[in-house]
Amino acid sequence: MKSTVLRGKKVVLRSLKLSDAARFCQWLADPEVTKFLDMYNQPALTLAAERKWITQQRQRKDIITFAIDTIDGTHIGSVALRHITSPHRHASYGIMIGDKKYWGQGYGTEAGKLIIDYGFRKLKLHRIYLYVIAYNIRGQKSYEKIGFKVEGRFREHLLVDGQYHDRVVMGILKNEYLKKQNNK
Ligand SMILES: CC(C)(COP(=O)(O)OP(=O)(O)OC[C@H]1O[C@@H](n2cnc3c(N)ncnc32)[C@H](O)[C@@H]1OP(=O)(O)O)[C@@H](O)C(=O)NCCC(=O)NCCS
Repeated sequence: MKSTVLRGKKVVLRSLKLSDAARFCQWLADPEVTKFLDMYNQPALTLAAERKWITQQRQRKDIITFAIDTIDGTHIGSVALRHITSPHRHASYGIMIGDKKYWGQGYGTEAGKLIIDYGFRKLKLHRIYLYVIAYNIRGQKSYEKIGFKVEGRFREHLLVDGQYHDRVVMGILKNEYLKKQNNK
């Protein structure tokens, strides 16, 4: 089957490859990255576990996960929609730019826009939502630029290094997204 590739100005979204596994292991061993994810302070992932994860991502029908490459072919992260087979036509959004050199330069926002567009136009989703830890300001700014709105928060939901933090819930509806596109 032909795999989907989504092209932007700064990034290309492509299928995951088994050879991506070593980079995921490296990124997910870095607490400066994982403190923004649900994987903080967890034991290091082995290459075998990461290769298994990649194989599973490629087989599952309810998840679409892309590797994020820069336009010149450097692999810098991944972005996904999960629960895409939900009868409610909603899905959750998740992203990681694992290579810290590429943070804060618009790569994550463009990758997000590409997969959200794919979710609404091709997968015919009605709503896409995400969870983000309150101190992840960079993430929240990026999601707002894509068009997500804050819908609420789970107060003191996450315990990180002995401190409780809110989990912020953000969401975007298809009609809001299309309206934003038409107003450009
Ligand atoms: C969250 C993430 C996907 C955002 O992607 P990115 O490419 O770094 O973000 P962008 O450059 O597209 O946009 C970030 C916005 O935050 C701002 N920003 C950048 N660094 C910042 C910082 N240290 N603090 C606050 N805001 C910051 C940028 O200025 C930009 O807004 P602007 O364009 O209006 O100026 C990426 O940083 C990442 O993967 N981080 C680590 C893992 C993670 O947080 N995953 C998401 C878990 S919910």
